[in-house]
Amino acid sequence: MKKIFVTGATGQIGSELVPELRKKYGRDNVIMGLFDKQPEGDLADGPSEKCDVRDKKKIEEIVREYGVGSIIHLSSILSATGEQNPQLAFDVNMKGLYNVLEVSKEQSIEKLIYPSSIAVFGPDTPKENTPNETILRPSTMYGITKVAGELLGNYYFEKFGLDVRGLRYPGIISWKTPPGGGTTDYAVAIYYEAIKQKKYTCFVREDTMLPMMYMPDAIKALMDLAEAKLGNLKHHADYNLGAMSFTAGELAESIKQEIPGFTCTYEPDFRQKIADSWPKSIDDSAARKEWGWKPEYDLTAMTKDMLKNLKEKLKEEK
Ligand SMILES: NC(=O)c1ccc[n+]([C@@H]2O[C@H](COP(=O)([O-])OP(=O)(O)OC[C@H]3O[C@@H](n4cnc5c(N)ncnc54)[C@H](O)[C@@H]3O)[C@@H](O)[C@H]2O)c1
Repeated sequence: MKKIFVTGATGQIGSELVPELRKKYGRDNVIMGLFDKQPEGDLADGPSEKCDVRDKKKIEEIVREYGVGSIIHLSSILSATGEQNPQLAFDVNMKGLYNVLEVSKEQSIEKLIYPSSIAVFGPDTPKENTPNETILRPSTMYGITKVAGELLGNYYFEKFGLDVRGLRYPGIISWKTPPGGGTTDYAVAIYYEAIKQKKYTCFVREDTMLPMMYMPDAIKALMDLAEAKLGNLKHHADYNLGAMSFTAGELAESIKQEIPGFTCTYEPDFRQKIADSWPKSIDDSAARKEWGWKPEYDLTAMTKDMLKNLKEKLKEEK
């Protein structure tokens, strides 16, 4: 089997995707691309290579040396960090992606998969049940790089026949690896603080509603899209993907059901403006129709699972 190369493999998504890929395709067939964070525990048990995605030669070397057939490109600077350092976000997100696209084209990679984000939408986009095809005028550097990334992916498919696939993740909630500087990080931090302190100060308003997804669904979506029959796909780098939508207040309430006495206060910061520019809910009917997307977790099921796993994790870390 040709190998799968995963860039940004120790991030929030990569650290959970890699074990699932190894389970399905075999440990030695998944090559982890490492940047600033080393893999820990079981994650360290498999092939890996240091790789800054801004270095095209290094990507070429890895693809050639290992006989890579598919690339899953996860390296990125996320929305909140991107607003604090827009130059870095442009550099990593644009140059990194362009390098990956070019190497994929030159070395005849069979499939290139990379996530986009709800950050492609902006203040002018319809907020409720946001359609797949709609206004893409984001107000963050992260969103701008994601729109360009989608357009490039579709261009490489049309122009060069490269099989590019991508989905617009909503905020991803998970307990294994902390998130990497996004606007929806509050929806993860709130669980940690609920267990540790029984209180949390949230950086968006109580009535802020955003689309979210639990990590097992996020992993399933990416793996299902990767396996979908190309002939069934009418979209390529830009599938809307939804699972659930809730306000910060509703999230706090769902935790209170499990941890009585938990309190949440709200002190919005610069991330409020980013959150206000994003949709409240997503129309993902294209993904459902073209490759059978169906999420499993709602808010209640996610909160129960998050708290159970996070409690165990935090106990072990003590
Ligand atoms: N987590 C979410 O809520 C979310 C939501 C929407 C979209 N996404 C997208 O999913 C993908 C993965 O996100 P994540 O949540 O795992 O992010 P993350 O921040 O946890 O991980 C990103 C990874 O990129 C790596 N990286 C940074 N600069 C690099 C460079 N120069 N070269 C190589 N690697 C570099 C980091 O080391 C990190 O491992 C990204 O494209 C992101 O935009 C994530």
